[in-house]
Amino acid sequence: MVEFKFEVKARDAAGRIGKLEVNGKKIETPAIMPVINPKQLIVTPKELKEMGFGIIITNSYIIYKTPELREKALEVGIHRLLDYDGIIEVDSGSFQLMRYGGVDVTNREIVEFQERIGVDIGTFLDIPTPPDAPREKAEEDLRITLERAKEAEEIKGIAMNAAVQGSTYPDLRTYAARKLSEMNFEIHPIGAVVPLMESYRYRDLVDVVIASKQGLRSDRPVHLFGAGHPMIFALAVAMGIDLFDSASYALYAKDDRYLTSEGTKHLSELEYFPCSCPVCSRYTPRELREMPKEERTRLLALHNLWVIREELNRVKQAIKEGELWRLVDERARSHPKLYAAYKRLLEYQDYLEKNEPITKASAFFKVSEESLKWPIVQRAKARAERVKAKFPETINHPIFGEIPKYLSLSYPFAQSEGEEDFTIEKPGKREVRNYVMAVAEYQFGEGAGEAFKDAFVELSRKTGMPRQIKAKGKHLATFRAEDGLLTLGIEGAKRLHEILPFPRMRVVVDEDAEPFARKGKNVFAKFVIDADENIRPYDEVLIVNRNDELLATGQTLLNGRELKLFQSGLAVKVRRGVEK
Ligand code: GUN
Ligand code: ZN
Repeated sequence: MVEFKFEVKARDAAGRIGKLEVNGKKIETPAIMPVINPKQLIVTPKELKEMGFGIIITNSYIIYKTPELREKALEVGIHRLLDYDGIIEVDSGSFQLMRYGGVDVTNREIVEFQERIGVDIGTFLDIPTPPDAPREKAEEDLRITLERAKEAEEIKGIAMNAAVQGSTYPDLRTYAARKLSEMNFEIHPIGAVVPLMESYRYRDLVDVVIASKQGLRSDRPVHLFGAGHPMIFALAVAMGIDLFDSASYALYAKDDRYLTSEGTKHLSELEYFPCSCPVCSRYTPRELREMPKEERTRLLALHNLWVIREELNRVKQAIKEGELWRLVDERARSHPKLYAAYKRLLEYQDYLEKNEPITKASAFFKVSEESLKWPIVQRAKARAERVKAKFPETINHPIFGEIPKYLSLSYPFAQSEGEEDFTIEKPGKREVRNYVMAVAEYQFGEGAGEAFKDAFVELSRKTGMPRQIKAKGKHLATFRAEDGLLTLGIEGAKRLHEILPFPRMRVVVDEDAEPFARKGKNVFAKFVIDADENIRPYDEVLIVNRNDELLATGQTLLNGRELKLFQSGLAVKVRRGVEK
């Protein structure tokens, strides 16, 4: 039995904080697996675990081909071989195939071996077709990769990677991703991207990743094979990458190269360390240079690992705060090729918009011209245009231009910071209902404003801002102080449910979930059977049963597509249930 679970906890851009569980061992994603060379341990797996790395990757092909390692692995298992009790993933020899042109093992042999030595996550022998290969070669390699996928799927008893290949042909990448998504695999790495990264072809990397992501099921974690430099973490996570692996921490250390989140430095060019990890706090660059090679390599490897850890934490914190795009923007300034990649990514508006949260914990900061291309801005402008048709009175916003006056209290218009200040006019008593109706149209779509046409809106005595929204003595909704968007009450949900035709804003759940939802308990992904594809992360939604009877209202973590796919984790944080 394969014990594997992946769920989403928080998100920003197309990135996510997730929880991955394999064989009872849990890690949080995005995560990086340090690469272990079983023949040469610069930092031991045990030390890695102590530094907080809960997953490592090593190469089953090297173990298979080295008699002592192979015998021991078969005898005591890979966890005891490496003295590591975290999650162990293994590669299959595919990388050797790409580098040296051949390997001395079959797909079946290596998959069976992986299972016999007790790895947590295996990888079958995919064929990494390098960038710019002739089309016929890319197609033929992919055909074989898919055949091997089928073979691996039939014999595997462990969680397994199925790598997306297809060279630099976006249609082949999407095709491979679709095919592998239909099969029974747990993780999808995006393969053969190392040559792109080695030559700083980040723009092409974006094309390959997005083409792959567009074909992949969104409920499986995605690994960017061979990516371990912290300078690309923010960009990669923003595209929807959950897992990385790094051999670079050790390989770079051997060459006296020092990683930073903005690029690589050579030890010889450093007079000061721009880092305060245990290594950099203790030694000066000069002291390190004067050390014996072996000791220096180990210390540089440790520094490199600390930086990797720190940058991943920074990315995760940015997701929590809704600041991932700002971090991507900042990192893009450290290399022209990264900047080009960032601009390229912003061209994939459709893909990005589907994954972009409706609201964020932080205000929108216009930190660059590119900020205006962030999906939140594009969406806000498009929705504002729609609202303008009903509420033509506009104001001039220094960042967003002409916007409907009645949206001026809501995210992102009010919660934004640009070069120029602007003042938000408090709503007058007589027009405050228009604000609520306009926001309803903005948030729930065409026609939703009608649900509030007889509403009475209380203004906060302290701030003068709209707060509780009522009608005929009943609570309809709350105008949220943080973002000027609406949280529905039961009565408001009932009215929207009546006005908006199925399936709009609906999350359909099965019979088992009904009594729980009605009691106001959260809805888990495995109970969701259908959903409106236009739902976006953090939208306020209507939870209904198969007969479209309203059960509850709450805030969804997943978009419409994901709601239908995910089988583990939370789907909707229920705010209120409708008792029978
Ligand atoms: N390591 C780096 N790239 C690849 C790849 O495309 N496939 C596999 N299996 N391992 C890799
Ligand atoms: Zn350091």
